[in-house]
Amino acid sequence: MRVISVINQKGGCGKTTTAINLCGCLSQLNRRVLLVDLDPQGHASLGLNLNPEDVRCGMTEVMTQSTGLEEVIRVADGTNLDVAPANITLSTVEQLLADAAGKEGRLLNKIEGMQRNYDYVIIDSPPSLGILTFNALRASDLSIVPIDMGFFSLHGVTKLIEIIDLVSRHTGHKVQLRALATMVSLRTRFTREVLEEIRQHFEGNVFRTLIRNNVRLREATSHGVPISHYDRRSAGANDYRAVAEEVLAMEVSAEAKVPELAAVEQNAPVGSPDEQPSVSYLSKP
Ligand SMILES: Nc1ncnc2c1ncn2[C@@H]1O[C@H](COP(=O)(O)OP(=O)(O)OP(=O)(O)O)[C@@H](O)[C@H]1O
Ligand SMILES: [Mg+2]
Repeated sequence: MRVISVINQKGGCGKTTTAINLCGCLSQLNRRVLLVDLDPQGHASLGLNLNPEDVRCGMTEVMTQSTGLEEVIRVADGTNLDVAPANITLSTVEQLLADAAGKEGRLLNKIEGMQRNYDYVIIDSPPSLGILTFNALRASDLSIVPIDMGFFSLHGVTKLIEIIDLVSRHTGHKVQLRALATMVSLRTRFTREVLEEIRQHFEGNVFRTLIRNNVRLREATSHGVPISHYDRRSAGANDYRAVAEEVLAMEVSAEAKVPELAAVEQNAPVGSPDEQPSVSYLSKP
């Protein structure tokens, strides 16, 4: 099982659209997928036709009580996608967990219990760098950072990368990062410059696929289904299918590298978490 979070503290850059449609495409590629809505806005739930106001038991209870993930999962109408829904009460988690020990690891603990049920768990996170995003980072093997092509889009990226480094030093967990360019309208000079800057910030860890601006993606969300279930021939469906294929290819190349890395790990002296190699994405079962 691989856990992938979609994070960026900048609002409206395509996190929820990416989470929903990556789930839809991975599911169409015959992977068992769970979408975890970790945003109090409940947009991932809403985008899969689950009204956040009707959520009586959801991610708030999972994060603050002994409720297990399996107790809150619902199947989204018109798809076979499993969703752990959220609503506005999730915004209380920050206060409720303020003094709790191991508060960054809560989601990880709950997700670990789902190892056998899913091939992929995708986490949609809120546009902030608080306890929910920390939990998403701590639980994930890979974090996708959607970046839209606007003037302000790179503004917070340095801060985001700093925070991710901080979480990894604090917890000893290194998460693999990969940026995804979203809402790309034209291959203009400005777009090329932004893409080049993204590559520099992420040291080349950028999806080859660019997500084009495509109105069918907006329509699909308003119909409560992923693009793969709404218009599979649209540009949006093609783009997110290509992202899903890149994700699957990362898994294959990771597996190919495992014996080599395992040998390195066996010979490596036991050091502080900071010194340990970044193999967590590769070495999970
Ligand atoms: N490639 C795209 N083409 C056209 N519209 C898009 C595309 N990606 C996202 N959108 C639209 O842009 C808006 C913001 O996208 P989305 O909700 O996915 O962002 P977000 O990062 O999750 O926002 P928030 O930070 O509020 O959670 C939505 O209306 C969505 O339908
Ligand atoms: Mg969102």
